[in-house]
Amino acid sequence: MVGEHALDAGDLICPVFIDETATERKPVGSMPGVERLPLDAVEAEADEIAGLGIPAVILFGIPGEKDETGEGAYAAGNVIEKAVRTIKRRNRDMVVITDVCLCEYTTHGHCGPIKNNTVDNDATLDIIAKTAVSYARAGADVVAPSGMMDGMVHAIRSELDFHGLKDTIIMSYAAKYASAMYGPFRDAASSGCKGFDRSTYQMDPANADEAMREVAMDLEEGADIVMVKPALSYLDIIYRVKAEFRVPVAAYSVSGEYAMIKAAAANGWIDGDRVALEALLSMKRAGADMIVTYAAKDIARLLQA
Ligand code: PBG
Ligand code: ZN
Repeated sequence: MVGEHALDAGDLICPVFIDETATERKPVGSMPGVERLPLDAVEAEADEIAGLGIPAVILFGIPGEKDETGEGAYAAGNVIEKAVRTIKRRNRDMVVITDVCLCEYTTHGHCGPIKNNTVDNDATLDIIAKTAVSYARAGADVVAPSGMMDGMVHAIRSELDFHGLKDTIIMSYAAKYASAMYGPFRDAASSGCKGFDRSTYQMDPANADEAMREVAMDLEEGADIVMVKPALSYLDIIYRVKAEFRVPVAAYSVSGEYAMIKAAAANGWIDGDRVALEALLSMKRAGADMIVTYAAKDIARLLQA
């Protein structure tokens, strides 16, 4: 009765990787329990997630072909468009969030086309805005730009509105750090980057005030939900964002956080279930309204038991 915070399956967002080239489910080595799905497995996956009381998914696509600019992300009949339609056909009430970024679609793995050894910010805006429209038209409820490009929320909001997609929600990866914790994801999504790292567009882990400015800008540009990523090493940021802005805050418990717990648990060094519950509860306590976690299905099962 005096418990202040609680974790609930209703707080969780389950990531789903859809691999256009796959003909069967492919396990991701560095993320035990996570798989890349072929398109024809997406419907069953959504049924399972919904059956566990998890209200939302976030989709990541692995396309058959990549190019220099990432423009394949919005090509007619792209993998995410198909996945969204498939999910919405049967699970109409599921909240479908689509990650909007180009790193899965570029040959070099950066989050936009490259110019002078860095990502060309403004050229990227045009491509991600078109990508957001493609996903929203397919039926996505929420688009989640994750590339940390300046002006991305404004570019997406205006393009969505221009196409009459006024009700599509924007969940912005507002404070995304240049973290060492994304390694396993880059295996899962084949989005490892070449040449230079992402620190020209993602945030310096030393900075906290800057995160407040990033969030303020995204809200100004029209973000409905702001995300802090990673979560566990950035609980102070989650706390400050919630305290300062009082808007819906999402925490992204990233691939490295998941892999660390799984690896230690596999060695018998920690109780993986308890550690995962405790980590996610700490994000709620810090102020997160919702949490993206690869453990979503496991946690929902634990909470049911
Ligand atoms: C794409 C994107 C990344 C993640 C989510 N969206 C990768 C990156 O920035 O390298 C990382 C998620 C994770 O590690 O779980 N920009
Ligand atoms: Zn990216």
